[in-house]
Amino acid sequence: MSAVLLEYPAKHVALLRINRPDALNALNAEVREIINTTLPMLDQDPEIRCVVLAGSEKAFAAGADIKERSTMSAVDVMKMSTTRGIAAFSKPLIAAVNGFALGGGCEYAMQCDIIIANDKARFSQPEVKLGLVPGAGGTQRLPRAVGKYNAMYMVLTGRLVNASDALRMGLVCEVVLGNCDARAIEIAIEIAALPPLTTRLIKEAVNAGSDMSLDAALRLETRAHQLAFATDDVREGIAAFIEKRPGQFYGR
Ligand code: CAA
Repeated sequence: MSAVLLEYPAKHVALLRINRPDALNALNAEVREIINTTLPMLDQDPEIRCVVLAGSEKAFAAGADIKERSTMSAVDVMKMSTTRGIAAFSKPLIAAVNGFALGGGCEYAMQCDIIIANDKARFSQPEVKLGLVPGAGGTQRLPRAVGKYNAMYMVLTGRLVNASDALRMGLVCEVVLGNCDARAIEIAIEIAALPPLTTRLIKEAVNAGSDMSLDAALRLETRAHQLAFATDDVREGIAAFIEKRPGQFYGR
């Protein structure tokens, strides 16, 4: 069985499921490799408009595979394929976090655009307990997401943060009782029904803009706004509003 499963739960929606439940979905080379090759393929697929990244019942991912890392040298780590494939994905990406999202698992979730969690979800950057520094955004994306002090609390203690605290911090958008996959898919279907070029432009404006000065970011937003206005989907969206009917969007 593959370490990552690709499913198509609805029209225009793909779901990538990390599938090493016996190892709490620890992120080994195979998982990283499949994610890094599948996401660019889904990015190129015009039929796909939104993707859900999920794990299994007990874990989204309990971090880098510590056993695999135990034999690696610094040079091996430098040569290792990174997780930038997730952050580079241009379409909306939703993390469905059931159970543990630790270390690299929390960082994978943070590279997505929306995080939905179940009530058993636990987030943590426990690298410090192993003598490690987080390596895929824990010291950078986490403070941008939850503020310096919540982030410092997590990266300096390695403590587990439960779903309601993650919701309070703003790391998570919704907490679902039981399994959150269905809710994440529901949101993905909602996004996939919207103009796909526009959702990509919005994602780019939010992500690229957050690293710019406000003035530069507002200029980027203006250009994205103007570009979206050139699409057929804008005409359709406006016509659909006036005619009081749902819009049909084709990404043109
Ligand atoms: N790597 C490799 N195997 C892991 C793992 C990991 N990150 N997390 C869990 N597993 C394995 C366990 O070794 C165990 O395997 P065996 O049955 O073969 O012994 C199996 O998954 C189940 O785990 P536990 O028995 O430990 O389950 P538990 O419910 O008692 O505890 C847990 C759950 C608290 C998540 C605990 O497993 C744990 O602390 N895991 C490690 C978490 C961690 O430190 N992650 C950060 C890794 S470093 C990183 O991610 C940074 C980076 O990118 C460089």
